[in-house]
Amino acid sequence: MTTFAEPGADLDLDDAPTSHARLLAWVREVAELTQPDRIHWCDGSDEEWAALTDELVAAGTLVRLDPEKKPNSFWARTDPTDVARVEERTFICSVDEADAGPTNNWRDPTEMKAEMTELYRGSMRGRTMYVIPFCMGPLTAANPMFGVELTDSPYVTVSMRIMARMGAHVLQAMGDDADFVPCLHSVGAPLEPGRQDVAWPCNETKFITQFPEERMIWSYGSGYGGNSLLGKKCYSLRIASVMARDEGWLAEHMLILKLTAPHGSVHYIAAAFPSACGKTNLAMLEPTIPGWKVETLGDDIAWMRFGEDGRLYAANPEFGLFGVAPGTGWKTNPNAMRTIAKGNSVFTNVALTDDGDIWWEGMTDEPPAHLTDWRGESWSPDSGQPSSHPNSRFCTPIEQCPIIAPEYDDPRGVPISAILFGGRRATTIPLVTEARDWTHGVFMGATLSSETTAAAAGQVGVVRRDPMAMLPFIGYNGGDYFAHWIAMGKDADAIKLPKIFYVNWFRRDDDGGFLWPGFGENGRVLKWVVERLEGLAAATETPIGHVPTPESLDTSGLDLTAEQLAACLRVDPEEWRAEVPGIAEWFEKFGDHLPTLLWAELDGLKARLGM
Ligand code: GDP
Ligand code: PGA
Ligand code: MN
Ligand code: MN
Repeated sequence: MTTFAEPGADLDLDDAPTSHARLLAWVREVAELTQPDRIHWCDGSDEEWAALTDELVAAGTLVRLDPEKKPNSFWARTDPTDVARVEERTFICSVDEADAGPTNNWRDPTEMKAEMTELYRGSMRGRTMYVIPFCMGPLTAANPMFGVELTDSPYVTVSMRIMARMGAHVLQAMGDDADFVPCLHSVGAPLEPGRQDVAWPCNETKFITQFPEERMIWSYGSGYGGNSLLGKKCYSLRIASVMARDEGWLAEHMLILKLTAPHGSVHYIAAAFPSACGKTNLAMLEPTIPGWKVETLGDDIAWMRFGEDGRLYAANPEFGLFGVAPGTGWKTNPNAMRTIAKGNSVFTNVALTDDGDIWWEGMTDEPPAHLTDWRGESWSPDSGQPSSHPNSRFCTPIEQCPIIAPEYDDPRGVPISAILFGGRRATTIPLVTEARDWTHGVFMGATLSSETTAAAAGQVGVVRRDPMAMLPFIGYNGGDYFAHWIAMGKDADAIKLPKIFYVNWFRRDDDGGFLWPGFGENGRVLKWVVERLEGLAAATETPIGHVPTPESLDTSGLDLTAEQLAACLRVDPEEWRAEVPGIAEWFEKFGDHLPTLLWAELDGLKARLGM
């Protein structure tokens, strides 16, 4: 650990473990502005982890779990107001407002910097500023994607060690002049001398701000993952999507999985579902149908580029899993349970058991008789409220996943055979639909709709458009983003493009229950997808695309009546005619930026629906 500059002393960088001039100048500038007591250059070592977690335990931010149950693992509780991404406080500060488009909040970059500079002034007083050199994706990449986060939160620092490749080896690889994305984070809670800290410092005022032209991120006021682990959503989606537009690739909110069929054929599949709509579960799926095998490459973000062979390759820039805890159990996602059992994890806003382990709704059928809930209060099954926040999370190294695919670390990525879009819709959307071609698939993605979840602050269960599951993450004009997707397909060899499908695990019956059993049974849908790719499965042509015939979907051994299966697969023209005005209204928002091809797709849909 390199710790220097005592309170009141100059923040001397002479001993800094780098001679990267731009980095040093930026660290100095931020330190002068935010006035931390100390600067700590993270080396990513086990000793550093031990010291930081000890410090967090002493501060009351973390509670160490029983090492027999969860080795080297911790329970964290946030401030009850700081539990999710804050989309209303998230801004794309492009120079031109039109470049932020109709789906993002925009502020003039100069004004935003002026306002945030005043917030940052002295905001790290009494605290340590951690310098976290990190790399999104493997360091062995042709162009390693560096970032440096400056934060006054040791919770963020330990979480970044799980979620990204970080530390001394990254700083060394950056040399004297590597390009990097500067990521500034402060919880906005300066500590005056002699004042006792709170367990979860944060500020009522929050800003999550991206400056796309400068490739720069400023975040203030929140310690919650998506707002504060800046390598994740802010860099790998919002900033990277802008880089991808400029450089001809895609930065997407997608899991990546490897599927091996009983006869040995291998397909890599990427899937985009909105936050808390099933990515982590699908990425770690344990298929119920015999002979099919899933291996995990990523559960949240995919960077995709065309390879020299003309195929689209996907790589996961992350190094950890930041998974929704509730609903994760031995029955639904055993591989996630095995991953966290290995320890080395931080659990945030779940419940603590009396014997030093963690629990959340859905982990086991029967809740323990007594818990400490996510608010720190005594909890029993008759307390009348959930023990864990619905957006509580496990943060755990991806390498602990027992079904990690060996090629997850290949900087070239893996060739994608199919892209799935999906969301949470109680009605209308069938279990699976195959797009007719790339442009139709882009139309499916662009019109994706889903019920809102607890992953973002605000109302839950409201249907909204969430294009490509990227609504909160597109770093530029959404219409231009659709045009970029279409262009990517146009420039490619059509035969080598991934086939696009749209799935919905969340359709409901008249009693409000899920029609489709989901989880491990979703392997049946993956099987149909692969059989379509290989020309083996039948489909019905419908106005919205190709839907499985009831016989073509393998339901052997599944407790599902013919009526229930039909309800899962049903395309109801009446429901779809009701969907059309909403799509038209959605497209109107983008004005001239909306590709005319998408209007043509809508016209085609209307014609097929007899409208
Ligand atoms: P992510 O945020 O997109 O990675 O979504 P997760 O995989 O973490 O799942 C979010 C929530 O949806 C969890 O509570 C899961 O238990 C639940 N979920 C995931 N897959 C399914 C499914 O196939 N069916 C149902 N009913 N729920 C699911
Ligand atoms: P999720 O990731 O997609 O797994 O929920 C976090 C988020 O999107 O906020
Ligand atoms: Mn996500
Ligand atoms: Mn997830």
